[in-house]
Amino acid sequence: MYRGRVTHSPLVVVTGGAGFIGSHVVDRLIGLGRRVVVIDDLRSGKRANLARWLDPRHALDGAEPALELLVNDVTEGLFAPLAAVTAKHGPVDRIIHLAAQVSVVASIANPLVDVHVNYRGTVQVLEYARAAGVKKVAFASSAAVYGETDRVPVEEDFPCRPMSPYGIDKYASEKMLHYYSAVQGVATTALRFFNVYGPRQDPSSPYSGVISIFADRARAGRDLTIFGDGEQTRDFVYVGDVARAVCEAALGDAGDRAVMNIGTGRETSVSQLARTVVELCGGRSQIVHAPARAGEIVRSLAAVERAATVLGFRAETALADGLRATLG
Ligand code: UD1
Repeated sequence: MYRGRVTHSPLVVVTGGAGFIGSHVVDRLIGLGRRVVVIDDLRSGKRANLARWLDPRHALDGAEPALELLVNDVTEGLFAPLAAVTAKHGPVDRIIHLAAQVSVVASIANPLVDVHVNYRGTVQVLEYARAAGVKKVAFASSAAVYGETDRVPVEEDFPCRPMSPYGIDKYASEKMLHYYSAVQGVATTALRFFNVYGPRQDPSSPYSGVISIFADRARAGRDLTIFGDGEQTRDFVYVGDVARAVCEAALGDAGDRAVMNIGTGRETSVSQLARTVVELCGGRSQIVHAPARAGEIVRSLAAVERAATVLGFRAETALADGLRATLG
């Protein structure tokens, strides 16, 4: 049985690897036999998300553990944190950049923090990649770069009109990736995540992902609140599928300079979602309505052909299966 040890494998760095999406990416990389270094300041990430790989028993036979966690802030750069680990194991082969200030609402309240963490952090990663000859950088962008679109499904070439500092910083980061590819010769791929859900997503803020909130409440038999009539739709993509897309983009050489949507190509209304979650939890919760959120997008749906063509990626997890996994 594979127990989380590798002997000779080029380093993959995952910034934000202790977070919700990052920890699933780490699971997959280690499953693929990669040696992983996580850089995470643990502001929104949690050591517990990586607990199985940090357990010292994984190194009992004398081999090196597959995972090293460096508690550092990416905005301060990667050179100092990675110096010791690269001296020991050789150069960084690939970087997966997921570290971010993750809240759209927080970016509106404090745009300077968002610029600092999400834009400056990306440039720090790219500067390291350029100087260290990293073979590929894969970056977590967001459907937030589009803002309101005239129609769905949303294609990558649609005009981007981000409606928040978060969306603007992700968009600007994509442009910086493109510059580093085109001018500095660093291969990069940006993935625009749609509504990602799954185990380990934190339900604790009112602006947490709707599935994490609904799952948390339905498990406890509490009411689920739908904002507005519930006819608004989202493209909910399971985190295990997202981790697969991220690894494909980072470890493969396809998709340099590409920007692509990561979604399912299926649209689900919030009402449908609420009914399914309640049913899976035994039907104890009531569904109630509250006023719609201001500035809410009505429909969100990813065009998924580019990711299929470029990366050979298609989301495979049906919503009901992903919800079962999330509900545990
Ligand atoms: C998501 C992203 C955001 C991105 C935006 C546009 C998350 C957590 N947020 O926002 O980063 O900018 O897409 O791409 O993934 N809802 C309820 N009841 C609740 C909570 C939410 O009805 O208790 C509704 C919301 O009003 C919304 C839908 O569920 O219509 C989804 O909400 P949410 O999960 O917060 O994500 P987005 O608003 O789509």
